[in-house]
Amino acid sequence: MIAHHDYRYYVLDEPELADAEYDRLMVELRALEAEYPDLLSPDSPTQRVSGEPVAAFGVVTHTIPMLSLDNAFTAEDVQAFDRRIHERLGSETELQYVAEPKLDGLAVTVIYRDGQLERAATRGDGVKGEDVTGNVRTIRTVPQRLRGTPPALLEARGEVFMPTAGFERMNRIARERGEKVYINPRNSASGSLRQLDPRISAGRPLDLFFYGLGMFTPAAEGSGIGQTQWELLQALRQWGLPVCAEARRVRGVDGCLGYYAELGARRASLPYQIDGVVYKLDPRVDQERLGFVSRAPRWAIAHKFPADEATTLVLGIEFQVGRTGALTPVARLEPVFVGGVTVSNVTLHNIGEVHRKDVRVGDTVIVRRAGDVIPEVVRVVKHVDAQATEVQLPSQCPICGSQVSRVEGEAVARCTGGFTCRAQRQEAVRHFASRRAMDIEGLGDKLIEQLIEHELVQSPADLYRLSEIELVALERMGERSANKLVQAIDRSRATTLPRFLFALGIREVGEATALALAVHFGDLDKLSRASVAEVQQVPDVGPVVAAHVVAFFSAAAHREVIARLRAAGVRWPRLAAPERSAQPLAGMTFVITGTLQAMTRDEAQKAVLALGGRVSGSVSKKTRYLVAGAEPGSKLRKATGLGVPVLEESAFLALLKPYRAL
Ligand code: IVH
Repeated sequence: MIAHHDYRYYVLDEPELADAEYDRLMVELRALEAEYPDLLSPDSPTQRVSGEPVAAFGVVTHTIPMLSLDNAFTAEDVQAFDRRIHERLGSETELQYVAEPKLDGLAVTVIYRDGQLERAATRGDGVKGEDVTGNVRTIRTVPQRLRGTPPALLEARGEVFMPTAGFERMNRIARERGEKVYINPRNSASGSLRQLDPRISAGRPLDLFFYGLGMFTPAAEGSGIGQTQWELLQALRQWGLPVCAEARRVRGVDGCLGYYAELGARRASLPYQIDGVVYKLDPRVDQERLGFVSRAPRWAIAHKFPADEATTLVLGIEFQVGRTGALTPVARLEPVFVGGVTVSNVTLHNIGEVHRKDVRVGDTVIVRRAGDVIPEVVRVVKHVDAQATEVQLPSQCPICGSQVSRVEGEAVARCTGGFTCRAQRQEAVRHFASRRAMDIEGLGDKLIEQLIEHELVQSPADLYRLSEIELVALERMGERSANKLVQAIDRSRATTLPRFLFALGIREVGEATALALAVHFGDLDKLSRASVAEVQQVPDVGPVVAAHVVAFFSAAAHREVIARLRAAGVRWPRLAAPERSAQPLAGMTFVITGTLQAMTRDEAQKAVLALGGRVSGSVSKKTRYLVAGAEPGSKLRKATGLGVPVLEESAFLALLKPYRAL
């Protein structure tokens, strides 16, 4: 069974199992073989490094085999590793290690002769690999010629990987062209490096970090490979080879575990994928004394992070109805522990996505949750239930029964019920009360659900009529909380025009557009009477958004809700022209990432500060906007995961524009 998965993983690049499950299988097999040594056969997967070279490449025999690493999953495993070394070396003192990220790519070896790149090969089965010289030469960070005075023969070993941003860009393009998308950056790196045509490899955003040695000849005086792993890394770097900047020298198990925790916390913000850390005993004399067992050195171990992918079962696929009536398919899963949490629901975004991934009820799927990013179905492993039919878009809203419509060419299908649909009412109230809108503290999802269900609230305007007596009658609602809630609702009456406009939940009108609309019109009545052409005068408002705005204000139901809100005392200070220029971004924290075209990040930061906003280096729930330039990387993923609004450069400029002119 493991051999089958090895083939899928190493040769076909199409694994059927999440990595963690594979690791578990190996652990089980090793335990079995330890218990019943008679069962151990020489071709057991535990006895070799997996994989077969693909025939089309030239075969390279590694003079020094390329080994693998044993895995540690817990702190106890790491302690046991350290203890074994102490025992074998007969040493009592704390040991020195080098801790490095375990890069999630594929191992390669690169031979330099007289400083010139001569040959590069994949690990293959550890003894024989594939000749990928032409492809490795296309990796920009790999020098064709070494600097300084390297050994006459130097075989440097490391990991080829694909930085996450490059992976995402590549898949986006592939998707647009209807081509095959890669499952993850590791598969993508492997697939890209093993292209028979180096011109294709050259177009792929591959990178390489070196971390070890194969063969080498003694170097000229004073320019050797050093006595330790740490010195080796410095030497490789001096010769111009790329080395990961995250490697650290640490002391003892505590140093190792400290590094593991620290790097684990930063894992999501690294520009490349790692699946753990590697501890290597630092002094090379000791490494040599310890040697190897079958496929792995005794002096190094990989300490894996908890799995961020797992396989589970799709129990059902349901459609949820959002504020704008959008129908979102959600997969109900057999609960599975992944990325540190138990996941039982995953959004499938839209029906197009469901069909593209061909997810069906009863399927086994790989679920991924990395860092704070929302969990996703990576892909289907197997359609187990042969009877399961393709998921169909319902023709009627599952909540209110109104017709569902899907505009030609749009991914999203919508319930046409509007405010008659309970789900849409509920989401409208939820949005209205949310922190960035009217900010009604204590009005949580459960409570809104109850209010809608008991028909105490039909529209946001009804919130302002709620009495303590009505609230206390609800389940789990005490007098104190009822009183607090009424007060919070009362406080929300005094708001600002941009918040109010955002709270209305007009389609495509986020905070930035609401602000721009408020600044441009200065007054709600003017805005509500404006034509599409007039609304389009607002910076960065195109015909689609303008049409949504005008349609919103021309609906009698919406006008009535607004009138009732104002009658209930919802008010905001008038935005007179001079006030409009004063500190409009006060209280907003921006994070700026990626490369901007029109200005530098520094200038962008100054502009935000000048308008009373704050700029932070990291994304959190408190971030008001993430400004994303080109190649935004992990901050964008984090922001999306946390639901932080993302402004592209043009939207950011539009937001600043009215003020920069003043
Ligand atoms: S050292 C003899 N260092 O992990 C030591 N390996 O699971 C051999 N890997 O085959 C490897 N990052 O592909 C080493 N910093 C690192 C690594 C690393 C990733 C990969 C490598 C290796 C596999 C073993």
